[in-house]
Amino acid sequence: MSADPQDAGPRRRFPSSFYNTITLAGTALAAISLGLILFLMALEALSHEHKPYMGIIAFVILPGFLVVGLVVAAIGVLRQQRRRKLGLPSTDRLPRIDLNDPAQLRASVLVGTGGVLFLLLTGFGSFKAYEYTDSDQFCGTVCHEVMKPEYTAYQASPHARVGCVECHIGPGAEWFVRSKLSGAYQVYSVMFDKFSRPIETPIKNLRPSRDTCEQCHWPAHFAGEKMVIHDYFASEEGNDHWRLQLLMRIGGGGAGIAPAHGSHWHMAEEVEVTYVSTDDKREDIPWVRLRLADGTEKIYRDTEADFDEATLPDHVLRTMDCIDCHNRPTHHYNPPSRLVNTALQNGVIAADLPGIKGLLVGLMEADYATEDEALAAIDAGVRGHYLDAYPELAAGRGADLDKAVAAAQHLFKTNIFPEMRVSWRHFPDHIGHLTTDGCFRCHDGNHTTDEGETIRRDCNLCHTIVSQERISGDLVESLAGVEYQHPEDIGDDWKVLNCSECHGG
Ligand code: HEC
Ligand code: HEC
Ligand code: HEC
Ligand code: HEC
Ligand code: HEC
Ligand code: HEC
Repeated sequence: MSADPQDAGPRRRFPSSFYNTITLAGTALAAISLGLILFLMALEALSHEHKPYMGIIAFVILPGFLVVGLVVAAIGVLRQQRRRKLGLPSTDRLPRIDLNDPAQLRASVLVGTGGVLFLLLTGFGSFKAYEYTDSDQFCGTVCHEVMKPEYTAYQASPHARVGCVECHIGPGAEWFVRSKLSGAYQVYSVMFDKFSRPIETPIKNLRPSRDTCEQCHWPAHFAGEKMVIHDYFASEEGNDHWRLQLLMRIGGGGAGIAPAHGSHWHMAEEVEVTYVSTDDKREDIPWVRLRLADGTEKIYRDTEADFDEATLPDHVLRTMDCIDCHNRPTHHYNPPSRLVNTALQNGVIAADLPGIKGLLVGLMEADYATEDEALAAIDAGVRGHYLDAYPELAAGRGADLDKAVAAAQHLFKTNIFPEMRVSWRHFPDHIGHLTTDGCFRCHDGNHTTDEGETIRRDCNLCHTIVSQERISGDLVESLAGVEYQHPEDIGDDWKVLNCSECHGG
């Protein structure tokens, strides 16, 4: 090995092969990254507000630069050693700076100040970038087309003031890194147009809702009942109007506060409901296990499904949490019939336009390739229908027709997104049982234990039907619960079939 004259230098702390510009540049990059990581971590520790997106920079991007810096430094060292082995002169010596030379002094001051300024700006820039990536605006609009449905529905929801990150990431570094890693893939998929339309749910690595929802709502805290009132208008000419009052048994309790009861009974500490689903939307549930803290265990099997229990180990056993019922707490995509009922009830659409309900629902449910196409079809469909069937009405009540068209277009734009193929059809809401099976995935009267116990389907188990009224007809009302009267005469079908068999999209 040829001796390097620099080895003889007196003040060297590192082997001479470290002293070359490549290694020096790499080391500088690594050091700056490390400094920024420490800076951001200190910022996070000092700030009382929790900022989950800090991690995208502190734990993903900057460490990337750190690693690149170290690799570059190592390459510099290896290159230097190789040159030396080959007996080549060490070309990469560091320049000598002579501060007595005014030109060199000026250059050094310039480079020094520039470097410090650069560092400060990068620090400030990272801080700003971090603040921005933490905002709902970033989550909702940067990937504009992709997130439009979620962002639109979110803005109209009870959670419009709750940040995306509160539900999708939650506190702590681990989920942060996990969701950032999957986020990196998402950025790639948007850049190269590889994302699926619509974005598929259930989200595979959504954080367990116990760590997110329960930061604000916790099961032992719920108690009691809540009144829900729904109005319905029939599809035919007469626009028959019905009103239903349900007293929802939300319940809660558990953990020694009160006996677990009502819908939130499933979430009590002493209750564990676990299930297997055979489709990727968690719609078909052939096998349910109930375990109670006192050691009781029951297995309910769907008597109508042909599920082979020998395949149980191949399936994911999922323990129920909030998302198994509240899978649409904020991205609600409502079915047209519910939207139109509400608009008729509020008077946004005149309820005396003959057959308006069925007409609008039909127009909104049709298949469209784009939003523009749908809006045009709604406009033409409504005006065309009344011009043909009720020419006098069309002439005299133009303003009401304009209002109906505008309202239906607005409801369409905020609930159905043809370009992303997002609608109530693709995202069933599990609270309820009308348009999708929801609660009836288990509570359909077919899930039975070997002893013959069945997951109950009584109409007054989850809600008390306090009253049902046919406006301009009879009011049937009782606090003990009245027997349901199906708005359309379908005999006893509603007692045996799942509602979604007729009402499903
Ligand atoms: C109240 C909690 C909550 C908030 C706030 C929230 N989400 Fe969601 N989000 C959910 C749940 C729950 C799901 C459905 C998970 C499942 O079915 O696996 C979901 C699903 C999604 C999906 C998958 C597609 C879909 O439509 O279901 C996307 C994309 C999404 N959210 C983006 C966002 C964005 C962007 C924001 C902020 C503008 C946001 N979310 C705010 C709870 C929330
Ligand atoms: C950061 C706090 C926060 C988090 C996290 C949060 N929520 Fe909420 N949630 C609220 C607030 C505040 C309201 C009340 C809004 C109102 O009254 O208008 C609410 C309302 C609700 C309601 C009643 C909605 C209605 O139509 O009246 C449900 C159901 C709900 N949240 C479920 C969830 C679920 C499920 C999650 C987890 C995926 C969740 N929340 C996460 C704060 C939160
Ligand atoms: C078995 C199904 C089920 C599960 C699991 C469930 N809920 Fe609910 N929850 C309901 C039903 C049903 C209602 C009443 C909905 C309605 O009619 O608006 C409700 C209502 C609520 C409300 C509104 C309460 C009010 O007074 O308006 C909140 C908040 C809520 N749930 C949060 C949660 C959270 C958080 C979890 C998870 C810890 C959870 N729920 C788990 C079924 C469930
Ligand atoms: C994965 C299966 C499953 C789903 C989905 C499900 N439940 Fe249950 N539920 C059960 C089991 C098992 C029981 C216990 C058997 C029984 O009480 O009939 C139960 C019991 C109940 C009870 C009685 C609690 C008590 O006080 O004893 C209520 C109320 C209830 N569920 C409401 C709901 C509502 C509302 C939904 C839909 C939002 C729902 N459940 C969805 C499995 C399920
Ligand atoms: C396992 C619980 C459960 C059982 C059993 C149950 N329901 Fe419901 N039902 C719900 C929930 C949850 C909702 C949603 C409430 C809301 O809209 O906020 C609902 C909503 C409804 C609605 C309003 C639907 C809509 O979207 O407009 C009707 C009507 C109804 N139930 C009738 C019945 C009848 C009839 C039976 C008996 C065959 C029954 N329910 C049994 C949980 C249940
Ligand atoms: C055999 C088919 C069938 C079954 C099963 C069925 N329905 Fe219906 N339902 C209908 C028809 C048909 C109408 C009239 C639709 C219209 O006028 O737009 C209707 C109307 C309704 C309406 C008013 C519709 C609206 O959106 O304005 C409600 C609410 C309703 N049904 C609830 C239920 C519930 C709850 C169940 C299950 C317990 C159920 N139905 C089961 C066929 C059915």
